[in-house]
Amino acid sequence: MSFESAATAAYLIASLLFVLSLAGLSRHETAKHGLICGVAGMVIALAATIGLVLDGRPGAASLALLLIAIVVGGALGLRRARIVQMTGMPELIALLHSFVGLAAVLVGWNGYLAADHLEGALVRIHHAEVFIGIFIGAVTFTGSIVAFLKLSARITSAPLMLPGKNLINVGALVLFATLTVAFVINPLLWELVAVTILALALGWHLVASIGGGDMPVVVSMLNSYSGWAAAASGFLLGNDLLIVTGALVGSSGAYLSYIMCQAMNRSFLSVIAGGFGIEATSSGGDRDYGEHREINAGDTAELLACASSVVITPGYGMAVAQAQYPVAELTRILRERGVTVRFGIHPVAGRLPGHMNVLLAEAKVPYDIALEMDEINDDLADTDVVLVIGANDTVNPAAAEDPGSPIAGMPVLRVWEAANVVVFKRSMAAGYAGVQNPLFFRDNTQMLFGDAKERVEDILRTLREDHVHAERATSSAAR
Ligand code: TAP
Repeated sequence: MSFESAATAAYLIASLLFVLSLAGLSRHETAKHGLICGVAGMVIALAATIGLVLDGRPGAASLALLLIAIVVGGALGLRRARIVQMTGMPELIALLHSFVGLAAVLVGWNGYLAADHLEGALVRIHHAEVFIGIFIGAVTFTGSIVAFLKLSARITSAPLMLPGKNLINVGALVLFATLTVAFVINPLLWELVAVTILALALGWHLVASIGGGDMPVVVSMLNSYSGWAAAASGFLLGNDLLIVTGALVGSSGAYLSYIMCQAMNRSFLSVIAGGFGIEATSSGGDRDYGEHREINAGDTAELLACASSVVITPGYGMAVAQAQYPVAELTRILRERGVTVRFGIHPVAGRLPGHMNVLLAEAKVPYDIALEMDEINDDLADTDVVLVIGANDTVNPAAAEDPGSPIAGMPVLRVWEAANVVVFKRSMAAGYAGVQNPLFFRDNTQMLFGDAKERVEDILRTLREDHVHAERATSSAAR
């Protein structure tokens, strides 16, 4: 068997491992197994590629360059993965997607500059591959950079509302189609420069036009684009593994975006077309909602001590404060005292899918009291106290009640239906989508300002002290 056939067999095994990896990662219980399959597939793929280079396959990169790329890339990746906070994961993922996009653009340009050896009909197919590969790659590149900047709060998460934004997007697609036809018939350098600039601008505009509340869908959509960009590079390089892997990432990312759109009541087409059909909206920032009321930790402890049912709705602020451990302790103490405590988890609370579930599992909160939004929403009206810990957009009534809001239509936890709501946050600032939250001004809502971890610890202290006092009182009465 030649080395080339051995490498093809290795690529096939790697592809199978990637399929197994995706299957494993789709369930909590099998996620670790899925991860191992993915790593094994990548090791096999890299070993086969290095083997091909050693075998002196014409056109392959030199071994020295390959090793430098692996060592530098591996070291940077390892360092980033070790230092990244869980709250920083989405922005890191967006940045990694931008690398895939950039690589596709470079592969496309290289494919154009090094296409001398092709003849006949193959030339036209090759030109189409170059053009489409560069387009997808450049859209992914700038789209992911904007997503990174929005997710890391380096730019505003509010949607960019250029006049005629839908027309701009449609115009760009029509121009791309026209340029593609022209390039396939008669390839000219300026056409390639034009499509690169066009796609870079389109990627930027598409993601900039999407509001913060829809960012989870954008991240998974960019994941899908990066897959298609890798598949396009695979066609150009004649690399089957890259085609298969790219298609796997592309289709699974597209499906994830579709599921997320359904969960968030968003139109899939509208989101992939940069908020197509969504016109100017109001953030509610200039509206007068009246005065908010404040509460302190001691009074919150008293409210909890008198409650028979409590629901906790955690959000991004709980992750920032790392409040999950005192929250788990509060849950344990209240349950020991006979209070029914449950958690209401919104599908996009935090900054990555399953973020709150991971934090609560880390703090050993029992799985069976962590309920999905749809499981808990109907019970909120019969709840004595809801503790909103660092959540904002995911409990915003404007989503349900204000059709002009940027988050209108997004399903939220209807915490305002409970008898009492205590909101833990540091200020009156808006949530990630930049939308004012009328919940804070409702008659049954009280704000508990400060870092969520510190405030929950204050409540714990009060509950414990009260408990000691109560025990002392009981024993002295007995004496
Ligand atoms: P957000 O709307 O992001 O609000 C978090 C709140 O936590 C803020 O209002 C902030 O208010 C508060 N906070 C921050 N640090 C805190 C601390 N140390 N102690 C107490 N409070 C603190 O939260 P959410 O309800 O979880 O909504 C998530 C948002 O992110 C949604 O818009 C969602 O679409 C978006 N998003 C989600 C994902 C995924 S997949 N989950 C990915 C990207 C984007 P203060 O500053 O006043 O304290």
